[in-house]
Amino acid sequence: MNELVIIGAGGFARETAQAVADAGAFKLLGHLDDNPALHGTEVDGVPVLGGCDLVHDLPGARVVICVGNPRDYAARARLVRRLGLTEERYATVIHPTAAVSATSEVGPGSVLLAHCVLTAAVRVGAHVAVMPQVVLTHDDVVEDYATIASGVRLGGGARLERGAYVGSGALVREATTVGAWSLIGMGSAVLGDVPPGEVWVGSPARRLRAADAPALDELAMRTELASRTVGGPLT
Ligand SMILES: CC(C)(COP(=O)(O)OP(=O)(O)OC[C@H]1O[C@@H](n2cnc3c(N)ncnc32)[C@H](O)[C@@H]1OP(=O)(O)O)[C@@H](O)C(=O)NCCC(=O)NCCS
Repeated sequence: MNELVIIGAGGFARETAQAVADAGAFKLLGHLDDNPALHGTEVDGVPVLGGCDLVHDLPGARVVICVGNPRDYAARARLVRRLGLTEERYATVIHPTAAVSATSEVGPGSVLLAHCVLTAAVRVGAHVAVMPQVVLTHDDVVEDYATIASGVRLGGGARLERGAYVGSGALVREATTVGAWSLIGMGSAVLGDVPPGEVWVGSPARRLRAADAPALDELAMRTELASRTVGGPLT
């Protein structure tokens, strides 16, 4: 059985540890977290082995990065860059109650918690966090580093661009795009395209403000990269 370490020891990391236990597909070695106060302790009975860089001393273990919250949902992207692991090191964790259609795909480092549904031809990228009871319908595209909180529903052909955060219970109309590193407030109904780097709330959702600094930093980095790239889509 593949060994696994979970990077992070907070709420999402602990939920992922439970999904790993339920799936029984990995031998969970423990959590890695940069908070030294946690080192040598256990969370929910799972040991915190040390800091995130300990991953380099465990070359046989697969990895998922389970950090981030609504105030800093760019944390996974920063850690992926910092750790510099090959794509093959990253595991995909799917709770056994998730219904993932044969025509759908889920990328490395992504986590699907209990009772998620991916109906038909859904594409989920790398390092995407999908909380319980999220429903992604036909032809939805969820780009790398997106976060989808519990109970979100996306209509068919919707797109969450890189790093987008969709808060609990939000609804996104069919064929609608949420821009890169934008955040949708919990319970919102998104009826039209949301530009990158903004916070939108309400039903119908309206612009509240610009996204927080960590998200805007990621957006700026990507824009700079794109302007230096000649031709070809960015992955
Ligand atoms: C959108 C969000 C980030 C805004 O947080 P914030 O910037 O601290 O905003 P505030 O709480 O100061 O609220 C600012 C205004 O927006 C309104 N507002 C905030 N969130 C809202 C929401 N989800 N829907 C509708 N209105 C909302 C507030 O009522 C307030 O309105 P007012 O100025 O008329 O009083 C936050 O409310 C949210 O929804 N976060 C996502 C939480 C989540 O889904 N967590 C998942 C599990 S961890």
